Amino acid sequence: MRIVLDYLKRNQDRFVAELCVFLRFPSVSAQPHHKKDLRACAGWLANHCRHIGLDARVCPTAGHPIVLAKTPQLVAPKRSEGGRPHFMIYGHYDVQPPEPLDLWKSPPFEPRIEGRSLFARGASDNKGQLFAHLKAVEAYLKTGTPLPCDLTFVIEGEEEVGSVSLAKFLKSHRRELGCDAVVVSDTGMPDADHPALTYSLRGIIAFEITVYGPSRDLHSGIFGGAVDNPAMALSRLLGKLRDKNGRVAIPGFYDEVVPLSACERKQFARLPIKDRDLQKLLGVPKLFGERGFTSTEQCSARPTFEINGLTSGYQGEGSKTIVPAWARAKITCRLVPNQRPARIHKVVCEHLKKICPPTVRMEIESGHGAEAYWVSPASAQAQAALRALRQAFHREPVLMREGGSIPIVNDFKKILGVDTLLLGLGLPEDNAHSPNEKFDLDCFAKGQLMSALLWQELCSSRH
Ligand code: BES
Ligand code: MN
Repeated sequence: MRIVLDYLKRNQDRFVAELCVFLRFPSVSAQPHHKKDLRACAGWLANHCRHIGLDARVCPTAGHPIVLAKTPQLVAPKRSEGGRPHFMIYGHYDVQPPEPLDLWKSPPFEPRIEGRSLFARGASDNKGQLFAHLKAVEAYLKTGTPLPCDLTFVIEGEEEVGSVSLAKFLKSHRRELGCDAVVVSDTGMPDADHPALTYSLRGIIAFEITVYGPSRDLHSGIFGGAVDNPAMALSRLLGKLRDKNGRVAIPGFYDEVVPLSACERKQFARLPIKDRDLQKLLGVPKLFGERGFTSTEQCSARPTFEINGLTSGYQGEGSKTIVPAWARAKITCRLVPNQRPARIHKVVCEHLKKICPPTVRMEIESGHGAEAYWVSPASAQAQAALRALRQAFHREPVLMREGGSIPIVNDFKKILGVDTLLLGLGLPEDNAHSPNEKFDLDCFAKGQLMSALLWQELCSSRH
């Protein structure tokens, strides 16, 4: 093991330089004009995997390609015949759109290092976190140190748009991907001194509401006053969906939510997150959330209804006096364990249709959806992960629930029958999905150590 850890220590500068190459690909999965960049990024990644000694291939899909990379196997014993343990490492090479560009201190796809921070879109979410695992495995392969298990990297290009192709891929490659557990570093830790095992993620439903008024934009002087304004109608409608206590005002929305236990709330309260710091970090004049819950609970263990985008009328410079023909809102709701995405979608749509005034016509287009995730932090695998975190960070790890979603982890359970260990390396101040995203280079280095140690811990705890 010594030699693996030494290798990691000696090669940090090169690892950072390689990560910068990875970060230069504008692999924005949501934007069709970047399709080629995703393909190029997948190609580069597969090549890099081969370079470090993995058997890698790029698997085309109906959407963006999936990169599959495995530790080389001289013989392939069947697991049923008592073969070696096999773990999957999942990550994504696609990134969120970088807009608004003018808020970036340096261009999003031109990585920049300042102190111990590496700035670029995707630095933390998820290229940097994924790269930590690749480098740990490289250390084993390049030093000729035997791994105690087989590893398969599954790296997709559609995580930020709902992982549609990967779910199908899992079904068609069920045998090849059969494993003991999946390891994912695509979540966070409360701060640099608290490595974390995340045992729950929120689910999600996404949809777009469009409200149509007149058949075209109208002169607001000639006709304004005699027709409803779709932007006004939509704002009024959306305004009714949350009450003054921060609760979602949609009948049935909370029906399936399991109340938080006293024990879990006590755990939450122990996390090193202070409201004052949060307010400062987020730049809000005052925090706001569902009354009766702490902000930690609000953003990880309670469901929400959020407007992600709101569009109507003239958006260019200067003024234009019109009554717009339509108005649109992009919405996502975050869900908690036991809430069924299809049912929430139904109660939300029914309520919207019910309160829509007769002066406009409403259309709802539904998008992706996923259930929340929950896994026991008491399992032997989770305990092994905690030991790896403890040794790598020299700090006591915390258990936490997080508010983000990784839809595919439910499919790992449903399709492959295995749990996912969520071992995040992101910090709250990493600006994931925001301008000036960054990754902490200490988290990167410690993440590599954690990964290197993890395989030992997972294999020694197997019965
Ligand atoms: N890495 C995030 C998910 C995440 C972030 C989980 C922080 C926990 C803490 C992931 O890349 C992501 O952003 N997922 C999307 C999924 C959605 C597009 C279906 C999300 O949560 O918005
Ligand atoms: Mn993300």
